[in-house]
Amino acid sequence: MLWTTSLLAAAVALLPGAGVNAAGTTLRFSCAQLVVERLDPIVNPGVVASPHLHQVVGGNSFNASMDHDVPSASSCTSCTPVDDFSNYWTATLFFKAKNGTYKRVATKGNPLGYSASNGGQTVYYLSSGKVTAFKPGFRMTVGDPSFRTAKEIAKYKMLTFTCLQTSSTRDGATTNFPKGQCKVGIMVSVRFPTCWDGVNLDSPDHQSHTAYPSGSACPSTHPVSIPQVFYETIWDTTPFNDKSLWPDDGSQPFVWSFGDKTGYGNHADYVFGWKGDTLQKAMDSGCSSDLFSNDIKCPAVKVQTIEQTNKCKKDVMVNDKLDGWLTELLVVSW
Ligand SMILES: *[C@@H]1O[C@H](CO)[C@@H](O)[C@H](O)[C@H]1NC(C)=O
Ligand SMILES: *[C@@H]1O[C@H](CO)[C@@H](O)[C@H](O)[C@H]1NC(C)=O
Repeated sequence: MLWTTSLLAAAVALLPGAGVNAAGTTLRFSCAQLVVERLDPIVNPGVVASPHLHQVVGGNSFNASMDHDVPSASSCTSCTPVDDFSNYWTATLFFKAKNGTYKRVATKGNPLGYSASNGGQTVYYLSSGKVTAFKPGFRMTVGDPSFRTAKEIAKYKMLTFTCLQTSSTRDGATTNFPKGQCKVGIMVSVRFPTCWDGVNLDSPDHQSHTAYPSGSACPSTHPVSIPQVFYETIWDTTPFNDKSLWPDDGSQPFVWSFGDKTGYGNHADYVFGWKGDTLQKAMDSGCSSDLFSNDIKCPAVKVQTIEQTNKCKKDVMVNDKLDGWLTELLVVSW
């Protein structure tokens, strides 16, 4: 299928050494929704509740702080690889009605293979050559919730929105919210940088220990090639496609949970939590994943069914009212 080729071509375009070793590794899998709540153990560790709402997938040891040994503290994961207790999260999306109230938009399983998933997101680990897997304790963020312009977000490569007219729409990606109705939903794609300083598991801004490649190689300041972590979150905006519900001035009605109507504040968080050296083995063995099913062609990675991932949950610590029409967003400050 043509679009499959172009999807992967786009995905590997920013990898160090892209084109040198075209084989590489494509590890793609489904993660169901673990929890939706106001916690952010990277940016606001120990703070209950964090300034804005997140949707979180992965290991059930996700907590206000993540100082523990993630694989041993987790008893299940909402991702299909059974040894992956990492946590992956993004902000959440809201629809703003004409009367000023907000309704939360749900995530949905990727129609390309993972429609049985109870929301959540698709996760990829990509490489085009030899990469060094993350170490226990590693974490990073990408994007900046304070950004509101195209010029600002240009600092980050490949944080995009795709207006899905079909499940496989992959053209027309933008760095701000789509302007019109999207028949299948809005896909938010987030690709993290692929170079690491080789030393720090985190940094004060949670980003400067990582960097983008310059050209096809990692810069001398960040010489270690790491897997490209890539999220696709599909927001089910279809209940809000009735044009009469949209603003009369022609603007679009969606807003991030931190109050951003532009979309340029798109950002995401990652805490590594694979058991042992499973991720390194997977990246070393040139695994591939079927784009239409839960089939990971990778002996190093044992998978559970999507039905099993749907059962992995974490108790909510922050009892916010999340459903119904809300009079305000749960934003503390931005
Ligand atoms: C989260 O952290 C709190 C405080 O350290 C602890 O009591 C609780 O058991 C933790 N929850 C999980 C799910 O690990
Ligand atoms: C606000 O608008 C929504 C969407 O049209 C509607 O369902 C809701 O009842 C309205 N709320 C109030 C308080 O009018």
